[in-house]
Order: sequence, then C-alpha cells, then structure tokens
Amino acid sequence: MALSLVHSTLFSKTSQLLIHTKIGFSHFSSSIPFSSSALPSNPKTWRRPVISVLELGGVKIARDDVVRDDPTNNVPDTIFSKLGLQLHRRDQHPLGILKNTIYDYFDTNYSNKFDKFDELCPIVSVKQNFDDVLVPADHVSRSYNDTYYVDSQTVLRCHTSAHQAELLRKGHTHFLVTGDVYRRDSIDSTHYPVFHQMEGFRVFSPDEWEASGMDGTSFAAEDLKKCLEGLATHLFGLLLYVDPVKISGAVEMRWVDTYFPFTNPSFELEIYFKEKWLEVLGCGVTEQEILKRNGKLNNVAWAFGLGLERLAMVLFDIPDIRLFWSDDERFTSQFSKGQLGTKFKPFSRYPPCYKDMSFWISESFTENNLCEVVRGIAGDLVEEVSLIDNFTNKKGMTSHCYRISYRSMERSLTDEEINDLQMSVREQVQSKLNVVLR
Ligand code: PHE
Repeated sequence: MALSLVHSTLFSKTSQLLIHTKIGFSHFSSSIPFSSSALPSNPKTWRRPVISVLELGGVKIARDDVVRDDPTNNVPDTIFSKLGLQLHRRDQHPLGILKNTIYDYFDTNYSNKFDKFDELCPIVSVKQNFDDVLVPADHVSRSYNDTYYVDSQTVLRCHTSAHQAELLRKGHTHFLVTGDVYRRDSIDSTHYPVFHQMEGFRVFSPDEWEASGMDGTSFAAEDLKKCLEGLATHLFGLLLYVDPVKISGAVEMRWVDTYFPFTNPSFELEIYFKEKWLEVLGCGVTEQEILKRNGKLNNVAWAFGLGLERLAMVLFDIPDIRLFWSDDERFTSQFSKGQLGTKFKPFSRYPPCYKDMSFWISESFTENNLCEVVRGIAGDLVEEVSLIDNFTNKKGMTSHCYRISYRSMERSLTDEEINDLQMSVREQVQSKLNVVLR
C-alpha cells in the first residue's frame, strides 16, 4: 500500500487510516513486459527465465492463465516468475530454516497437534481471500491498486488467512499454513511485492475455557499471547517485553492493539529493528461469524499471521528483503539447515545510484502503480522509490518528485545502464501513468 508502513498486516487499522492515497488503477501491468532487453547482459547476473508452465500443489498453471492482457488482470511477468519458487520449502534458505524452527516450537509444545500446510496454491478466489474472512466489500485491500487480480473473481492471495475457512470446513482445529503472498506495494528494503506468511489457527471447545472460569474470548486472547510470547522466546531466546524496555542485547518488542476484519480483539507484535518498528505479526480472537459459517458454532478460536521475511531479517541480520530472492552463492552458502540466527555477513555493497524524476500527477496516480512500472523495467536493481518532494501550485496541480535508488547486490552498475533504465522508466511513467513529466 502506497505510503504505508504496513506490510505483513495489510488489514490493520493503521493501513485503513492510510487510505488517503488515491485508489486508482490504470490497467497497465500485464502489458509491462519482463523487460529483459533493458537489462544488462552480464552473464553473472542472469535472471531466472520466465517459465511458461509450472505446477503448484499438484495444479498445472500456464503463464497465460495468470498473466493476460485483459483489463481485469494486473499480474506482470515479474510476479508470475515468482510463483512456484516456494522459498519457504527450502531447508537451507533462511525462510525454510525459520519455518522449521517454528514447526519445532509447535510440535514440542502442542505434541504434534498442529497440522501443517505449505503447498496450498497461491491462486485463490476473491471469496477465499476476502469474503470468507469478512473483509468488507469496500475495504481498500480489495482494490486493484493493492492486490494482484488474475481476473475479477481470482487473485494471488494477499494473506494466508485465505485458507482459514476451507481448512475449518475440512475439520482441522489446529493448523499452520505457510506460503508466498502477493501485494502491490511501495519499494524499499523491507517491502517486496511477494513475501511469505505463516498462519496459525487454534480452535477451543467449551470445556477448555469453562474450567478456567473465564469467558471464551478472554481465554483465547490470553492463550494466544502466551503462545506467541513463547514462540518469541523460542526464536530469540529471550523474554518478550510488553513495553519497549532497553536491555542490552535484547530485541525490543511490543504489543499494539489494532483492528482486523476477521478477529476481535486484534493485536500486532512489533520488533524494533534498524531504528524502525517493524510489524512482524497480526493476530487475534477469531470472529464468531467465521466459526459459525464453517461448522464450529460452539467454539472460540485464535489466529495469527506472521511475516517470515521480517522475522528472518532480524534473526539473521539480513539488511535487504531482496536478498531472500538471490541466487548468489555468497548469500545462499551462508545458511544451513537447522541453523537459526546465523548472522549474515554482507558481501561488499556496491554503490547506489540515485535518479530523481518530477511530474504533475493526475487523479488516478498511485505510488503502487509507479513502483510496478519501475520494477517492470529495473527488476531487483531498484532498491527504493521514495517521495522526496510534493507540492500543489495555485492552479491546484500537484507535483511529485520521486527519488529512485538503483543498486545491484551483485555488481557495480555502469552509468550507461542506469541512464538507459531511467530513460525507459521516464518513458513508461509518462505513457502508462497519465502524468506529465516536468
Ligand atoms: N491476515 C492478516 C494480514 O496479513 C494477519 C492476521 C492473521 C491477523 C490472522 C489476524 C489473524 O495482515
């Protein structure tokens, strides 16, 4: 979501308050080619070719099923190329290592009661992604600006909560769902349009809370926080501080009350990392309506959705979210199965190159659309897109100046290639976003 700090928890109130960014959508994404022609032909920096058919959880999916030149589709090839990579299923990858460590925690503390799913297909219906978890019809997360639509009824899931209802209906009462999730978003070191989440869900029956003398909701809320504090201790080896307390060597964390359409009460857990509070998970007591609709009339439940990249960045000291996608051996060789928290040793960082561009925006301009154009051209060479100036003149015309930072994690970029990239960015921004360059 443009200008939002929110990533792992799109549905929170914080993000709703940030809806002031205009929601407009130019149907351009599918026509942005995975512009390999604009990319340097350095053999060391090869990119994965866009495979045209892949298999996801037993389902065969062709590129044309997902990327189409049709106004109801906004999935670019850069996103299609990420489908099926399943970083969370690689035991030597930081995300796989983290997933396995969380599995260990649940297996040990809940004697293998949690059923685990990590191969559910990320292409889901609008019903699964939104309706089944009570996301209101006019909620910003449903917009084409925020979500990748395959067609008007099908999306790339934007959270693992999309699977809650179907798993409940199948009779599961304790489950963990891990998977890749997709969101149109801004570009910086902690935001990437594909990331990974783990959903946790636990259903209680009346005898469990009745014995405690508490009402079901308070019982579930207390159990949820205890469970996640235990998980934090398991991952970080230290206690969770409810208020930010500075203790040397400790990771600062805090609970924040929030809002999600599918839970009440709802909370977020934030971790202080590199001078920013990062949301690492959203959670809460599941809305009764969801349980009722899915055959659990007399129960209460809790749910959480945890952003794996955010946690892994803190645990492994990984400074840039793009690194998770790197095939560079200097990255991949640093991690081994079962080794949580190996500190990443950065290999020499190549210098960034900054390019500014100013334009008069139109009604339909959004930062997410801008980022999609930039990413369509420069791919992972773009490190950050930030608004550095914004003013409205007497005639009511608004000008934005964006700074684009280009940096490769693998090599130095030449002036020439940056200039070529920037030239293409300028051309496409003008032609696709209905803005006037200044
Ligand atoms: N699905 C929420 C998100 O992605 C996270 C969440 C999951 C919150 C489960 C509460 C319960 O923003």
